[in-house]
Amino acid sequence: MQIFKPYLDDRVKALIDDLSLLEKIDIRCLPQSVAIIMDGNGRWAKKRGLPRAIGHRNGAERLRSIIKLSSALGIKYLTLYTFSTENWKRSYGEVAFLMDLMVEYLSREIDELHQNNIRIVPIGDLSALPLPTRRELEAGRNLTSANSGLTVNIAVNYGGRQELVDAVRLLAEQVCAGELTVEQIDEKAISDRLYTAGQIDPDLLIRTSGELRLSNYLLYQSAYSELYFTDVLWPDFSADEYLKALADYGHRERRFGKESSVKRGD
Ligand code: IPE
Ligand code: IPE
Ligand code: MG
Repeated sequence: MQIFKPYLDDRVKALIDDLSLLEKIDIRCLPQSVAIIMDGNGRWAKKRGLPRAIGHRNGAERLRSIIKLSSALGIKYLTLYTFSTENWKRSYGEVAFLMDLMVEYLSREIDELHQNNIRIVPIGDLSALPLPTRRELEAGRNLTSANSGLTVNIAVNYGGRQELVDAVRLLAEQVCAGELTVEQIDEKAISDRLYTAGQIDPDLLIRTSGELRLSNYLLYQSAYSELYFTDVLWPDFSADEYLKALADYGHRERRFGKESSVKRGD
């Protein structure tokens, strides 16, 4: 089989340790939309006898290379789970740290993201966030809204069930107001009212840290996503690990209910 490697400039190649991984990537088989459950920061820190906060900080640092590589590979959407509706159950100190980290990260990175034509789209219920976090996310969205490159969805105070509740409420309001008939409610009507309205569904959904669950992530959108689970903890999820996930995706046969078209030897 002939593999069409992606072309990457030297600055992007510098992010990769094992360049032979590129031999395994066929640019015709790359996902257009990738979603990631960035899990395992706490365990990464615990293994090293460090406070959980250090794990979160190292996790945030990982994003630089994953975003750069996604952009260089021409991936259109990258959806990052940074804080779930369930994460409010964590200690006050941890929640406060995560909210501050988001402000710190965005304020430091936003100009470079903007220069690289990246569009930031926060998804989730921002109204419940501390004001500085909300302001930073909204400022990032406003600054980058006209960019045409990679869209980075930042899922914060995000819950798939809450997203569906919000969509159903909107539909009900529109029906009550006579703007929509019940018959007009179809799959598109629902997806048009999700936080990800207008975007394609994730082709590939990655979860790090060995947990085998969705934890309320993109429940509607992931109906036909290819799932990739790795034991690697998020702060260790390097560009090389990302390439392994993308190479694995390239070998999946996406059937969407059809019979297999793979010709087998037997
Ligand atoms: C993921 O790492 C980050 C968030 C959920 C905010 P965790 O904090 O869940 O790390 P573990 O699962 O405890 O190792
Ligand atoms: C999912 O991870 C949420 C994020 C990565 C932001 P959790 O660590 O919160 O998930 P559970 O609680 O193990 O399911
Ligand atoms: Mg976790």
